[in-house]
Amino acid sequence: MAVHEMDHPLIQHKLSVLRDERTTSKQFRELVSEIAMLMCFEATRDLPLMDRDVKTPVAMAHTKVIAGKKLAFVPILRAGLGMVDGVLTLVPNARVGHIGLYRDPETLKPVEYYCKLPADIQEREVIVLDPMLATGGSAIDAISQIKQRHPKEIKFMGLIGAPEGVKALSEAHPDVEIYIGAIDDKLNDHGYIVPGLGDAGDRIFGTK
Ligand code: PRP
Ligand code: URA
Repeated sequence: MAVHEMDHPLIQHKLSVLRDERTTSKQFRELVSEIAMLMCFEATRDLPLMDRDVKTPVAMAHTKVIAGKKLAFVPILRAGLGMVDGVLTLVPNARVGHIGLYRDPETLKPVEYYCKLPADIQEREVIVLDPMLATGGSAIDAISQIKQRHPKEIKFMGLIGAPEGVKALSEAHPDVEIYIGAIDDKLNDHGYIVPGLGDAGDRIFGTK
């Protein structure tokens, strides 16, 4: 399935500032939200439209509105939370589910601790949010959980990916389109993306 690497100048510029180790938590949070909003613009490009006639003060206008298909955003806790405000700015009526996963620092395998998804998820397209796609384990696991609830479609949106994670996610879930801000060089021995931006959760929440 398709991997969409973002080439928009605004996204590339903001990612550069985001990576900088001198960027403060406040700036980091703002940038994650802004980049998520810009990427959401791309990830929703194929939403179906339907005709609607609207009476303006002057005449009838033949317009288009988004058809019945509804969206749900599912951030992977913690770092995915940083992307929620940005995407809701564009799609304020979307539902938001949550999946709690953390990577075991030794095995690098995801450990699940929370899952709450919208009750009507079968009627929705889901966009999974996580700034980092490193080994891909967290995204693969989250998407497997969501698939058990049979949404209409699933997309993944991340800010920075490693080639290893993009490949693993594409192979595990070939039906899921991947929207990624940048694909970096590699993973290091600790499973961190190189050059990456460090630990996204710690930089968003200022926990280190
Ligand atoms: C980070 C990140 C992803 C995961 C990516 O979360 O936000 O969820 O690592 O790594 P993977 O692709 O190798 O699974 P982390 O486990 O650090 O948890 P946190 O968001 O609670 O800090
Ligand atoms: N999680 C992060 O927050 N950063 C990485 O580089 C890899 C996983």
